[in-house]
Amino acid sequence: MKLNPVLEAARDYPFAKLMEIKRQREAAGRRVLDFSMGDPREPTPAFLRDAMKAAVPEISSYPSVKGGAKLRGAIAGYVQRRFGVPLDPETHVLPLNGTKEGIFTTHLALIDPASSKKTVVCFEPAYPVYAQGAAYAGATHHAIRLTREQRFRPDPAALDPALLDRTALMWINYPHNPTGAEADAALFAQLRALARKHDFVLASDECYADLCFGTPSPSVLVPADAPRFENVLAFHSCSKRSSMTGYRSGFVAGDPRLIAALTRFRPAVGVATPDFVQAAAAAAWSDDAHVTGVVATYRRRRELLLDLFRRKGWQHDGGAATFYIWWRVPPGFRDSVELAEKLLELDLLLTPGSWLGSGGEQHVRFALVATEADTRLAIERLEKFPS
Ligand SMILES: Cc1ncc(COP(=O)(O)O)c(C=O)c1O
Repeated sequence: MKLNPVLEAARDYPFAKLMEIKRQREAAGRRVLDFSMGDPREPTPAFLRDAMKAAVPEISSYPSVKGGAKLRGAIAGYVQRRFGVPLDPETHVLPLNGTKEGIFTTHLALIDPASSKKTVVCFEPAYPVYAQGAAYAGATHHAIRLTREQRFRPDPAALDPALLDRTALMWINYPHNPTGAEADAALFAQLRALARKHDFVLASDECYADLCFGTPSPSVLVPADAPRFENVLAFHSCSKRSSMTGYRSGFVAGDPRLIAALTRFRPAVGVATPDFVQAAAAAAWSDDAHVTGVVATYRRRRELLLDLFRRKGWQHDGGAATFYIWWRVPPGFRDSVELAEKLLELDLLLTPGSWLGSGGEQHVRFALVATEADTRLAIERLEKFPS
């Protein structure tokens, strides 16, 4: 039987390729320092682990898609404290098994592949799951290139109205993977106005919202002119904020009509969040103190690396958020792939920007996810690079 052609096209999921290279080098006895994927190796705070353990029941039952009142209340509390936005935990909020899952399944839930309004607009370079979700949903993926000159932000005035009329879903992601760029409330307001005018869903992936080193980043939910969140969804994650990648937990919040649609769709997929994970997530969203420590850890590593960049005259072209450094390919290297290959010779694994879509050809992404000791070791190797 012929399988789904999207599967064939997805064979080269960039990170699978990276992992294979790493595996081969490690099989040859080398210790590869991995700065490629956004998977923090920080301990999950003990109170979050304890919250989960305490919630493991003797008798296990299916969790509900809507999630428990405690988790939804904790999420609403977080959004109120962090962004000053009041949410109704009943109608504005839904737990996710990580933002990745939420991003992917949202395409399937909201897009009608038989309609002419089935374009998914993404701004690249980008997290690859927007394009994958669009492909599996039978949607039309339309990538628009972000530039350094525009600080990796889209220009709302330059978006083609005919394209926006065909658009079902537009993904934005600030603070931005892979550049660390940030948006401001004015950009969000302009995009929200376009989402209402052209009737598409503006989906804002805000999973790095709390990893900011300058000013706190805004949310698309801040309701200066959109108190009902019409056509707007924001996606948040416990993964980075609370070092909980393995728990698979996040949430989506916004337009109650869309939240209701996702609530109807999700039982078909079986993506309700287990109750014991919900318990840990509720504890995480109820507490901000532990996040200060997480941010301080990344700030320290970032400063160590940027210090090296200053000494070497290398450029980080992104902003002051996320744990990514967007390293401009220095003179003497053809492009991001050549630079990444040369770095592998030092057993340093970084992601070539070109693997993250158009606009990434002249940058390499440095994810500050290794320990401080490994970061220092990498810096030592880079002091003499290129030799
Ligand atoms: C931009 C972006 N969105 C979503 C995710 C997935 O996050 P989660 O662990 O919540 O699924 C990542 C993970 O690296 C990411 O970089």
